[in-house]
Amino acid sequence: IRVCVIGGGASGEHDVSLASAAGIAGALDRERYDVYRLTIGRDGGWFDGSATDERSRLTAAEAVAGLEGMDVVFPALHGVNGEDGTMAALMGVVRVPVVGGGIRPGALAMDKWVTKLIAGALGIATAPAVYVVGGRVVAGGGVSSPAISVAEGVSVAGLTYPVVVKPVAAGSSHGVSVVAQASDLPAAVDEARRHDEHVLIEQFVEGREVDVAVLEHADGRRTIGPALEIAVDKGDVFDTDQKYGGHVPFVIPARVTDPELEALRTAADTLFTALGCRGIARFDFFVTPGGVLLNEVNTMPGFTPDSQVPKMFDAIGIPYATLLDELLATARA
Ligand code: DAL
Ligand code: MG
Repeated sequence: IRVCVIGGGASGEHDVSLASAAGIAGALDRERYDVYRLTIGRDGGWFDGSATDERSRLTAAEAVAGLEGMDVVFPALHGVNGEDGTMAALMGVVRVPVVGGGIRPGALAMDKWVTKLIAGALGIATAPAVYVVGGRVVAGGGVSSPAISVAEGVSVAGLTYPVVVKPVAAGSSHGVSVVAQASDLPAAVDEARRHDEHVLIEQFVEGREVDVAVLEHADGRRTIGPALEIAVDKGDVFDTDQKYGGHVPFVIPARVTDPELEALRTAADTLFTALGCRGIARFDFFVTPGGVLLNEVNTMPGFTPDSQVPKMFDAIGIPYATLLDELLATARA
């Protein structure tokens, strides 16, 4: 079976993706798979192999021709230009089976505002938020006039400080800030806008981050992994530095009550269905004294052997290499 693992990508999560791709390619059983590598540069260019070495630069036509010769493609891409449905679209056009969700789940889950609307419609709570496009509030938070410029120092009606400012389409906490007072809001919005013109200002949630992943097998059965708790210090956020700075404090199973676990599992399973996910998705929640809130959905979650999803399934007897076999078997054109 010829498998091409794609890493990198023209997104803020380029380096994380390289780590995921290296982990996957390193663990695939060489008895079963002929493993090929492609890397997408930060500039969006294609490279033969596992690095962005100029000598191995390919034209897009060469890269796509190579992909057409594969039995299955594993795009270990996080964030925009990969996890957002673009890679599923490209593989759909050239009819090569691809691991992970199609265009719909990628595009829907990459948009944190749309995810919020869908979750709300399903009865799954998310943090109250104000939606800002191009520096102007367009929805949410009880704001009545849409033409309020955040850059002019708007009070975010309906929310109380601290708030979290985040780009709508980004990952790994890039461009995210916690803002304690109104005077710091414009700078935080500007920072988020460096990643996406679409920005969310969300109520800061006092709670613990707990992640739940759904693994869908080739026959359609699902295994919901054990809840994983991210044990950051109280009041801190699981930011980019903590995520990729070395020590990652995961607790499996998460310290949640039975009703909380039930709410988490039901929400993850329902969202997987509603978004049309395939193969794998990881749902990140906050568990608060007032209940469970969805934070975000990852349709191609971090996939190094030490990332959340491999750790969750390993804890229930599905080792990393087996998890990869399962995912490759779910790939569709
Ligand atoms: N967006 C990163 C890769 C994650 O969710 O694991
Ligand atoms: Mg993410």
